[in-house]
Amino acid sequence: MSSKSFTPLIDPYARRVRDLRISITDRCNFRCTYCMPEKGLQWLDRAEILSFEEITRLARIFVERFDFDGIRLTGGEPTVRADLPVLMEKLSSLHVPSTGLPVDLAMTTNGSSLRLIARDLKNTGLNRLNISLDSLDPKTFATMTRRDHLDKVLDGIDAAIEAGFSPIKINIVMIRGVNDGEIVDFATFGRQMGVQPRFIEFMPLDADGAWNIDKVVPADEIVERINQVYPLSPVVHGPEPAQRFAYQDGAGEIGVIPSVTKPFCANCDRVRITAEGKFMTCLFAIREFDLRKTLRSGGSDDEIMDEIQAAIGTKWAGHSIGNVNFVRPPRSMSQIGG
Ligand code: 5AD
Ligand code: SF4
Repeated sequence: MSSKSFTPLIDPYARRVRDLRISITDRCNFRCTYCMPEKGLQWLDRAEILSFEEITRLARIFVERFDFDGIRLTGGEPTVRADLPVLMEKLSSLHVPSTGLPVDLAMTTNGSSLRLIARDLKNTGLNRLNISLDSLDPKTFATMTRRDHLDKVLDGIDAAIEAGFSPIKINIVMIRGVNDGEIVDFATFGRQMGVQPRFIEFMPLDADGAWNIDKVVPADEIVERINQVYPLSPVVHGPEPAQRFAYQDGAGEIGVIPSVTKPFCANCDRVRITAEGKFMTCLFAIREFDLRKTLRSGGSDDEIMDEIQAAIGTKWAGHSIGNVNFVRPPRSMSQIGG
């Protein structure tokens, strides 16, 4: 446990920032249409990607110096990175100064490798798991991910349950005309499996540039459609972006993430590090801060802290998707980290 004092990170809108997402690779074995192009994406060279030691050093600074209490590993697909449990073990030794508790370690994965590593990840300290599953229909699944791996992902979800992860959240990016016929099917699936569906509004972060507002299925519509079959009540909760609803019969919960129709920017407490060590204060940030440069030129922890604090001074309060002055960021989701 750290005995050092910490400095809370506060942005210009008085938001306390304390949730870190780290992309550990830009690569992925899927090619989801809402994220990656079919081909032609240039992968980063191995040397450009932060090493486990570099990732752990940055994570330590965020947790021990700024009192961050949560870290989520993302990608690309984090499980394509070799020896992932080794990184998990390093990160799980970090403790949050204000509480003395271990940092809450989470990961977002496409689930295709979980049969192989779910147990190791659990044993090395991974606490929470979000698994992407956009369709329960093999054809639609293959259309959306450009891979015919529905069975593998379903088996991965079973493996995660067997390994003892709870709760398990299932991320579903809803796209009008593609998978919006499956809203109630996902609710039924969640109730039967004891997992929590989280319906995510499609954001303009697809590499193909095919996003438009007509493809967004509003969160309110999703809740209403489920409510007609399985009555729901809202759950009061903290700053997380998901709006949560519990089934009135006690059979679990769903979440919706209204990133487009009701942006959660006002409560946003998160920042991101890309696989090559760029610090981003928003998914839609245009400006990036090169922490890798400071790391690799022998910068001290204090210098890295200064750089992080300067970057936080630029964290803005709204992405304005849908407004005429919205500027699409130059990166797609797999290059930022979901
Ligand atoms: N819109 C919304 N969510 C997205 N994700 C990736 N691309 C998009 C997008 N364009 C989310 C998915 C996936 C996670 C890694 O990132 O939920 O589960
Ligand atoms: Fe891969 Fe996730 Fe992007 Fe799909 S959304 S291509 S699984 S990184």
